[in-house]
Amino acid sequence: MDYNEGMEIEILGTETLGVRGLSTSIGRILIDPGVALGFSRYNLHPHPIQAVVGDEVKGKIIRAWENAEDIIISHLHGDHTPLPNPNPFQLGIEELPPNSSARIWVKAEKFCRGIERVRFMALKRKFGDQIIEAEPGVGDGLLEFIGPFPHTGRSNIMVLGTIVRKDRTLLHLSDADISSWEVIRAVERINPDFIISDGPSLYRSGREYVDRYLLRVSKLVNSCGSLVVDHHLMRCDEGVKWLKSLKRIGEGKCKVFSASEFMLRPFTMLEAWRRTLYRLIPVSNNWFRGDFLLKELKDDYREIWPEIRIDLDKGRPHDEKSFEKVMRRALERIPQQLSHITSYL
Ligand SMILES: [Fe+2]
Repeated sequence: MDYNEGMEIEILGTETLGVRGLSTSIGRILIDPGVALGFSRYNLHPHPIQAVVGDEVKGKIIRAWENAEDIIISHLHGDHTPLPNPNPFQLGIEELPPNSSARIWVKAEKFCRGIERVRFMALKRKFGDQIIEAEPGVGDGLLEFIGPFPHTGRSNIMVLGTIVRKDRTLLHLSDADISSWEVIRAVERINPDFIISDGPSLYRSGREYVDRYLLRVSKLVNSCGSLVVDHHLMRCDEGVKWLKSLKRIGEGKCKVFSASEFMLRPFTMLEAWRRTLYRLIPVSNNWFRGDFLLKELKDDYREIWPEIRIDLDKGRPHDEKSFEKVMRRALERIPQQLSHITSYL
């Protein structure tokens, strides 16, 4: 079965595709045009390989932005929106190409607080009348907004959900907490064909929450035909196991995927596996602080990343251990380029 039939869905960037975010294009609709890499995880900053993948995702978002008729920003966290002051791994407002005909739907200002409000104002300054404040009741028949819902984890940020009605009905839930009753009831009411959603932050939750989340989220498999769950869920290996359990529960009712599986790509959880990247390809934790090294190292790693990707495609890792095996195999094949790269360390 073609799960993408009639929808033209492409998930551009999220954790199983190597970055933070849930940027998605559906034909000429672009949702959450932002990217981040997790500035500090395990006391490590992003590895140059992550930066290379981040740049690829930025390129995809920029191309989608250029062609979009509608651009939607569900909330104003740095992995979901272009930023006025990005760090080297995020997408900046100034990097975006002009697209004066696109409508840019942003979570309404009244739902924004603090830094979200500052970012809202920056978008408004840059894009002026193209900005439409999105909230329930605003839309155009093809697009509809729901929520705002509480953000995944303990946060007082609110997140807007987007319904796209084409041949089939798609619901994009960005960082909405899908284990909350509020979201589960909204999904039951809408009964969409397809959901793209955030999943619980298992990397920050106690063991006691793992089954509780599964029990709650399993209700969604009765309310949709296909369910992609990714983002916060896939910041640790536990997320892959959790998704496997959800797949078993959904069997015969709902096809459950990670974004990488939906996009027919290998798990590429580079943030979760960052320690292995630093162990196998050591580099200073502050490699990106100087402009010269930032550019040089990214140029070098851009050369070897396609080689590593060949091994990822072959080896299909599903956890950090199998990723390490795949990486070792890849690095054995490319010693020459590596010796050139290590001269910068
Ligand atoms: Fe996010």
